[in-house]
Amino acid sequence: MKYKRTNYCGKIFSKHIGKKVTVCGWVVKQRNLGHLIFVDLRDITGIVQLNFSKKDISLFEKASLLKSEFVIIAVGKVMERSNKNKNLLTGNIEIKVSKLEICSKAETTPFEIVQKLNVKEELRLQYRYLDLRRKNLAENFIMRHKILKFTREHFDKYGFFEIETPVLTKSTIEGARDYLVPSRVFPGKFFALPQSPQLYKQLAMIAGFDRYIQIAKCFRDEDLRSDRQPEFTQIDLEMSFADEEDIMTVVENFIKKLFKKFFSKTIKLPLRKISYDECIEKYGSDKPDLRYEMKLIHLDDELSDTNFKIFKDAINSGGSVVGVKAENAAKSFSRKEIEKLSEKLKTYGAKGLVFTKLDKDGTVSSSFEKFLSQDEKISIRKKAFIKSGDILFVVADKVRLNCFYTAGNLRFEIAKKLKLLENKADSLFWVTDFPMFVYSECENRLVAAHHPFTAPQDEDLEFLETYPEKIKARAYDLVLNGNEIGGGSIRINNIKLQMEIFKVLGINKNEVENRFGFLLNALRFGTPPHGGFAFGFDRLLMILLGCESIKDVIFFPKASNSFELMSSSPSEVYKSQLKALKISVCHKNKKS
Ligand code: AMO
Repeated sequence: MKYKRTNYCGKIFSKHIGKKVTVCGWVVKQRNLGHLIFVDLRDITGIVQLNFSKKDISLFEKASLLKSEFVIIAVGKVMERSNKNKNLLTGNIEIKVSKLEICSKAETTPFEIVQKLNVKEELRLQYRYLDLRRKNLAENFIMRHKILKFTREHFDKYGFFEIETPVLTKSTIEGARDYLVPSRVFPGKFFALPQSPQLYKQLAMIAGFDRYIQIAKCFRDEDLRSDRQPEFTQIDLEMSFADEEDIMTVVENFIKKLFKKFFSKTIKLPLRKISYDECIEKYGSDKPDLRYEMKLIHLDDELSDTNFKIFKDAINSGGSVVGVKAENAAKSFSRKEIEKLSEKLKTYGAKGLVFTKLDKDGTVSSSFEKFLSQDEKISIRKKAFIKSGDILFVVADKVRLNCFYTAGNLRFEIAKKLKLLENKADSLFWVTDFPMFVYSECENRLVAAHHPFTAPQDEDLEFLETYPEKIKARAYDLVLNGNEIGGGSIRINNIKLQMEIFKVLGINKNEVENRFGFLLNALRFGTPPHGGFAFGFDRLLMILLGCESIKDVIFFPKASNSFELMSSSPSEVYKSQLKALKISVCHKNKKS
């Protein structure tokens, strides 16, 4: 490098006119007008225009060689621009270049480095470092950096210690599938990458560290979605001698300041708390989007004697029939649109969708009313307050919870279609009183709804042996615009209760000792009451920055099939590596 940078491209303004500067970066484009060459130069801060005059012929010839994405250093004088560019922050000035160093040439890139890119995601991920040169994507990471810095400073002020917990940890089987790391020193044994630092942060409390924070990498081998990655980051917190209110207050104060500082949004505290049961009953989701109302309409009573088989079967099997009304939206749902909606719902596991539509001119069209008695029709319309112009959708399922979830998805799809989500104030609230256990069909046993270290509510302890499904947990989730952006709980701090919970979960004593012995041991030596919370940091950012996918806030994300396209991993390894680990591969994955 012959010249050293004095200024960043995006930070040169009118006040610099007359100054000599040295700028470095990537050529966006070069325009040769015959007597003048203009080059737009980009670095992480923005773009500045370089001006090469033919008066210096050797410099001019050198500049004429420049192509997009060449890396150069230019020395020159800042001048006022005759043809100002209002779309550019540095549009009032340009640099009249006197010296030019070409640091590195560039081949034609697989896609143009432009804001609006219309290429396959796979290609963008394969050349992620080129994708990241685009300003709109790069800005997400500048914001990510600022928010992380703010987070650390904020929690430091409130007495939180930043503690790094291990990444090579013990596999504990609860939760999602673990990523395993084979040990060379102990052949046949494995570390697991942490799904979260849950047990370590509890141990930090037992160690007396009182208030813990970690910007923690978590790893979960699960199917990906637009808001899920196998490797993601939590803002992970834990506090001793704290109850639900203390933890919620700490979380709320942080999020309030973050919203204000970075997004100029005001949040009113304390946040609303809604119980899990209420969320499910009213909105068919444990993370409902409350930017719009559209409550579920429960129709079991109105249809208790119905002869319509679908409804009758659902109700008689202990299931339910639920309606969702789209007010004044009948005209938005043609037959074709309704079919589309019905197909969409099937992807969520819905069994079917029926409707009644009351057009403005008073005509009724319905796919199911003909199967109902006059009384049933009237009572349904009454219950749903159907007016002309409205459309009522109805779903039924033999399993109550499935019916509510389907109706919740229906609610969401209707809101999306009617664009009810746009330009609405954020909906941010707590969901509380989660069930402690849920039945897992694939495991054929009760599993912890949150995690097995969550404390049950005291008043429900009496049901531990008789009716564990009835027990509520001291757990809470934070929901923003229909997304779970974080969750936490008060933990169990006594060994007897912890053992009883493992018993309900059907984990036998040997297994408990084998998997969680270290935690149980620690619980014997004085454990403060404690609890905590973890933000899904990527998910939070994705929503706040208005991104469509979590990949837009993760620097090097995995593709939707968990493959890392840039480095092509996971990959096969050398036989010698496997030999050292005493591992032999039996089933080769055809894709890899
Ligand atoms: P939980 O499992 O609810 O709790 O995780 C906390 C938050 O992490 C985010 N999250 C994810 N983000 C991206 N990709 C994923 N695969 C993914 N999985 C979860 C969600 C979620 O709300 N140890 C507990 C926290 C505690 O109790 O303190 C835990 O990990 O936003």
